[in-house]
Amino acid sequence: MKKITIESIQKKKNRYPITCLTSYSKPVAEILDKYCDIILVGDSLGMVLYGMKSTREVTLDTMIAHAKSVCLGTKRSLVVVDMPFKTYSNKLVAHKNAKKIMKITNCDAVKLEGGKNIEGIVSYLVSKGIPVMGHIGLLPQYASRFKTKGKTNFEKKQILSDAISLSKSGAFALVVECVVESLAKEITNKISVPTIGIGASKYCDGQILVIDDMIGLSNFYPKFVKQYSKIRKIIEKSIKKYCQEVKSRRFPSAKNVYNN
Ligand code: KIV
Repeated sequence: MKKITIESIQKKKNRYPITCLTSYSKPVAEILDKYCDIILVGDSLGMVLYGMKSTREVTLDTMIAHAKSVCLGTKRSLVVVDMPFKTYSNKLVAHKNAKKIMKITNCDAVKLEGGKNIEGIVSYLVSKGIPVMGHIGLLPQYASRFKTKGKTNFEKKQILSDAISLSKSGAFALVVECVVESLAKEITNKISVPTIGIGASKYCDGQILVIDDMIGLSNFYPKFVKQYSKIRKIIEKSIKKYCQEVKSRRFPSAKNVYNN
């Protein structure tokens, strides 16, 4: 089993679509590891797992704990960990925190949200040997609500210039979130590093979704999410049956008992 590298991800641009999903734990990472090029330990876990109102409440320690678990379950995929809000406010703070994430978790790269405003931080991290994935378009750490980006010429120009500046700063790939199709296409054509879309059309070099949304575990189903299963229903059925069997004393049966 060959480990996926940043170089192998970059070689896929314009050739093979890059597959990415989020994971927050070892058992899920073990499954993704067989199929996904990139596993993202997203700070979406704040909302998905912890019921926070936004990703802004997520702490560095929480990200590190989940990233450690994910890395234990991953042998092949490239693991990228989100740097939480305010943990990369300047290049020295960013370096200290990124180094901590990489050292404790053994992940392969970190992801930062922002555009031109963080180009100096990105190039500093890269110069210190820390691989960085960028995140442009809709920025959950800063957005107060979900809204498609790039509908106006002004916004289009700004997001395109963010993409160009981040790729020039050394980001190895960019997540492009919730932008109009024409802008996703233009960014993908103009920059040399892969674009990974979420709600950003087929014109990106790869796709990412939040795993809980695509397997039907969460209650969040915007238009861009395709639900590949309804895991919530399967879990509920199992729990219902277990409770019925405990109440009727069908569980545990002889098979589940230690007899010396
Ligand atoms: O936090 C996250 O899960 C993300 C993805 C939505 C790209 O950033």
